[in-house]
Amino acid sequence: MIIAIDGPAGAGKSTVSRGLAKALGFLFLDTGAMYRAVALKVLESGADPESETQCRETAERHRLSFDPAGKILIDGTPGEPDVRSERVEKIVSAVSAHPRVRAVIVARQQAIASAAHGVVAEGRDTTTVVFPRAELKFFLNASAAERARRKAHQVGAPERQRAIESDLLRRDTIDSTRAHSPLVKAPDALVIETDGKSPEQVIAELLAHVHARRAAAPRE
Ligand code: DC
Repeated sequence: MIIAIDGPAGAGKSTVSRGLAKALGFLFLDTGAMYRAVALKVLESGADPESETQCRETAERHRLSFDPAGKILIDGTPGEPDVRSERVEKIVSAVSAHPRVRAVIVARQQAIASAAHGVVAEGRDTTTVVFPRAELKFFLNASAAERARRKAHQVGAPERQRAIESDLLRRDTIDSTRAHSPLVKAPDALVIETDGKSPEQVIAELLAHVHARRAAAPRE
């Protein structure tokens, strides 16, 4: 079974997707981590993040997989925490914007999923491009105020909530209007509003949908 999860930045997708995968004993496919891994290797090899050819070659050169906890492995070696570093953060959106990089990575994501018995895939375009035929699609949503509140809390700066909120609204506009894999809700995705809910409550809600779906199609 493939479950695909998308939604705006700060809606709690990672925590919830990881938790759902764990509850189901499925593989957690962190698609963003794969683009981060390519960006890290671009940096390490001195390739040019703006060069589509160099980035595509870098993507093709390295084997990407996930350990049982859902953490990215690059040629079998842990990519964390380097894939979350500031220098990766700076170039990952340029690297992931190249269509030929996306083609390589999307094919890998599909291969990983077809080898697994169950997958929770999280990230931009998982519900539309990567797994358009996923058995279940969720679009996790939260108000800008709630997303800003969580982020401010996460970085330990509650006084910055207002500033974070305007930044999120600006990113939402960029995300939903950009040319490559914009943030769009797949027509068959279930919208889950997460305002005022804990990650555990959201996971329980998603699990109820999974169980209902399994009861309706017991052979899947
Ligand atoms: O979700 P994240 O912050 O780990 O994503 C890292 C980068 O990769 C970010 O620039 C968005 C991009 N990305 C993408 O283009 N397609 C995906 N399916 C997932 C992430």
